[in-house]
Amino acid sequence: MHYSTPFGKRPMAKKAFITGITGQDGYYLADFLLDKGYDVYGLVRSSSLEIPQRIGKLAGRVHIDHGDLTDSLSIREIIERVQPDEIYNLAAQSHVQWSFKLPENTFDTTGSGCIRMLEAIRQTCPQARFYQASSSEMFGLVQEVPQRETTPFHPRSPYGVAKVAAFWATINYREGYNMFACNGILFNHESPRRGEDFVTRKITKAAARIALGLQDKLILGNLDVKRDWGYAPEYVRAMWLMLQQETPEDYVIATGETHTVREFCEIAFRRAGLDWEKHVEIDPRFFRPAEVNLVIGDASKAMRQLGWEHKTSFPQLVEIMVDADLEAARQEAKIP
Ligand code: NAP
Ligand code: GDD
Repeated sequence: MHYSTPFGKRPMAKKAFITGITGQDGYYLADFLLDKGYDVYGLVRSSSLEIPQRIGKLAGRVHIDHGDLTDSLSIREIIERVQPDEIYNLAAQSHVQWSFKLPENTFDTTGSGCIRMLEAIRQTCPQARFYQASSSEMFGLVQEVPQRETTPFHPRSPYGVAKVAAFWATINYREGYNMFACNGILFNHESPRRGEDFVTRKITKAAARIALGLQDKLILGNLDVKRDWGYAPEYVRAMWLMLQQETPEDYVIATGETHTVREFCEIAFRRAGLDWEKHVEIDPRFFRPAEVNLVIGDASKAMRQLGWEHKTSFPQLVEIMVDADLEAARQEAKIP
């Protein structure tokens, strides 16, 4: 396909539609696809706050469409009109602890929202390639170490249950309707754009603010849990790679290393010039009714078939996040 320009015919850019574009991954994925020459469309809730600040340098470079994953009509209208080549379903109520307080709302967005997307695609744009943001939270009470594509699921939260439903819905539409639909089973991935209620960003922001005298303590929950933490900009490339393959499949994306929340604290506070033990307090309020104590992923299928691997080490990730939060804290404290 081509379109006319004053300089002659140009190949038509591929169109990508991203739900959750105001979130961490939506931002990095949109930026990545824009660099690849895609025409990027993003779903934004009408209730989303501070959209220009949230999407930062994407403003003016992406098409914003208003809608909601809980509203099938809005999703269908956009997909039918835009006719995207690739659709990335990143929108979710993605906070595990909140999902215990909001189980029904979480299922509606994170579980049924995926089914609404798949059905809208089936009805109006069945040739589109679909990516579902599946999660290591589906492994929950892990049945095997490390976790791979074949490891059975045992979700431990309403969020995990909703993600399992979305995972199987994606496979169901692939098998039932021959749609190009993939699950990326991503393990935790972080960045300076991580939401401030997730443990990594909560720690790096607090370490930076304590170092600059803007805050005196940090209150956390369980420090013993272990996560496989990677760097978000590297993970969005894996999403794109999955949709460029000949056949749709599901892939684990992970670093293959696991660390405790305590280790994260130690490195973060050290980077900010502090001793974490002098500033961190524990409050049972941040413990969960059921916990995922350990996750560690085996991404060898993605390495073999997609040529994907993580590059940023765990200490580097922590330092990138602390440095960004130190910069933000300096601005907050008005230190030049
Ligand atoms: P995030 O920062 O929490 O972003 C979630 C996005 O979903 C936001 O843009 C949010 O919009 C949007 N959203 C929430 N409810 C919605 C609704 N009803 N309709 C439309 N949009 C809605 O999440 P993330 O870290 O970027 O993660 C992206 C996806 O990957 C999520 O599905 C998450 O569950 C999954 N995942 C994340 C990780 C990780 O470690 N980051 C690992 C595995 C899987 P507002 O701005 O309006 O709130
Ligand atoms: N959020 C938070 N706040 N978590 C804390 C705290 C705290 O004060 N203290 C300890 N933790 C522990 C939690 O109990 C959990 O075991 C771990 O830190 C990580 O919590 P989060 O950063 O909230 O992430 P998550 O692992 O529960 O979920 C994230 O990763 C999943 C992939 O496995 C989210 O991004 C999910 O959307 C994603 O699917």
